Amino acid sequence: MKIKYLSHSGFLISNDKYNILIDPYITGNPNAICNASDIDANYIILTHAHGDHLGDAISIADRCRSCVIAVNELGKYLDRFNLRVHKMHIGGAYNFDFGRVKFTIAHHGSSNDDGMYMGEPAGIILTFEGKNIYHCGDTGLFMDMKLIGEIDEIDLMLVPIGDNFTMGIDDAIRAVNFVNPKLAIPIHYNTFPVIAADPYQFKEKVIANGKNALVMDFGEEIEF
Ligand code: NI
Ligand code: MN
Repeated sequence: MKIKYLSHSGFLISNDKYNILIDPYITGNPNAICNASDIDANYIILTHAHGDHLGDAISIADRCRSCVIAVNELGKYLDRFNLRVHKMHIGGAYNFDFGRVKFTIAHHGSSNDDGMYMGEPAGIILTFEGKNIYHCGDTGLFMDMKLIGEIDEIDLMLVPIGDNFTMGIDDAIRAVNFVNPKLAIPIHYNTFPVIAADPYQFKEKVIANGKNALVMDFGEEIEF
């Protein structure tokens, strides 16, 4: 599979058959690497409704007829836009044609830009081509991450480090120790001054703990 980092919490995970987009915050994102109209997706998975995660999901899903996967309350809101929506909830998994999606807890909020309640925020465990990718969403550190790492062996963990709204670097290091992924990639930093963080400091500390980390450039694509 190919994994492209769109900046912030946004990823495009793809192979010859599928384009799976996560948290497409492009319009208004100072680190955006393209326009929303440049991105095609079969599926869009959302961690929560905050503007820096819901982002351009509605316009992309409308144009591409993507199926949007979200927690129930956010999914019901998206139904207003005549999109294809698959609603799930925390702790539940579903087998799609491309693979499996399970939502995990995340300690955070989830309202839209008008302040409307959009259900609980979530993390995502995406199983694609037999690999488990854990996108933490926006969250503080929580002990149950240990359980998440025990239930599904995590190949790739996408972990917020920007502090203020989510874990900072030191808590993110603990999160990586809890989950024990084969590879950790830092996300949710340097988009705004308030979440300025040095991803290389995160990488060094993860490696000092005997684990593997990679800093991706905004717009970089890797084969995984
Ligand atoms: Ni958020
Ligand atoms: Mn956020």
